[in-house]
Amino acid sequence: MKASVIGTGSALPKTVVKNDDFKQWVDTDDEWIYSHTGIKERRIAKDETLISLAADAAKKALADAGVSGEEIDLIIAATFTPDCFTPTLACMLQNEVGATCPAFDLNAACSGFIYALDVGYRYIKSGAAKKVLIVAADMLSRVTNFSDRGTCVLFGDGAGAAVLSAQGEGNIIYSKTEAESDTKFSLRIPGLYSRFPLNESLPKEESVVSMDGNEIYMNAVRTMTRDIKKALSESGLTISDIDYIVPHQANSRIIDAVAIKLKMLKEKFFMNMPKYGNTSAASVAIALDELSKSGMLRKGTHVALCAFGGGFTSGCAILEWAK
Ligand code: ACO
Repeated sequence: MKASVIGTGSALPKTVVKNDDFKQWVDTDDEWIYSHTGIKERRIAKDETLISLAADAAKKALADAGVSGEEIDLIIAATFTPDCFTPTLACMLQNEVGATCPAFDLNAACSGFIYALDVGYRYIKSGAAKKVLIVAADMLSRVTNFSDRGTCVLFGDGAGAAVLSAQGEGNIIYSKTEAESDTKFSLRIPGLYSRFPLNESLPKEESVVSMDGNEIYMNAVRTMTRDIKKALSESGLTISDIDYIVPHQANSRIIDAVAIKLKMLKEKFFMNMPKYGNTSAASVAIALDELSKSGMLRKGTHVALCAFGGGFTSGCAILEWAK
């Protein structure tokens, strides 16, 4: 059984926050942020919720694919900033798109879209599903410490989606996910672990990002380079067969370093981080949607998706564009 991406969609909050807007919270400026990250602005939700962004992206992907909600056999939502722990984002999406099928969330941090794509691809290849809706959505503004200049400038909110199908030419020609235990907790957002209702004396931690930026940088460069090389060798392709790479949009300096290590032109890396910053799980999904709508893809174009995230999770998929 083959599996293809047959439609994509994305949604961003309306509110634009520019680099210099951060001066109201921390000692920073546009020059530092842009030169260290490649980010100019990002979208931050004011009126939107995660489900409103995710549903918007999902409906656009279904329309792009020409598929109705009733035809979907499985919904996978990748997020770690859900509106609710239960119902899950995927179950809330069922109602929004009119689907009656199994639905679950997964959390692979910034690699969430690649993980969701990988799981959907394997459901289809095994014959367990014919059409899968994958949605990756995060609102990092919910877990941002706006008094920490080392992290607050990096993130944005957004959602992206794709429809996978057993019909079509089978354009997912490779997909693999990886994880290495991050024993140093280089990127950490506490969950509920400090909540003990019977012991109020224990210190409570806020659920906000703390990060060792250099550790993340080094591991992101190493892992993304390794995963792309492995994908090429296992799929029998070479660097010159790849027309575009859609990387996780964390930081332009990470992408510069990966491009140098792969001896690949930076122009082949599709980048939208200047507009949206790092939208975590959604970042590759939003970028794939923008690339697919840009008119730059032709039948036979090879697109490699790759991501790295907290955990450390990572993954790579290669699509041979079929439209
Ligand atoms: N504005 C101004 N100055 C700042 C800011 C800011 N927003 N942030 C940090 N600085 C200062 C620091 O306080 C420090 O000042 P000091 O020397 O007076 O102490 C100085 O800049 C250098 O700080 P470093 O942390 O060493 O800066 P570095 O050059 O390493 O850049 C950065 C930091 C951009 C975060 C870098 O480490 C990086 O790119 N890391 C990758 C992290 C990443 O992308 N994370 C995303 C989330 S994880 C993921 O998506 C997989």
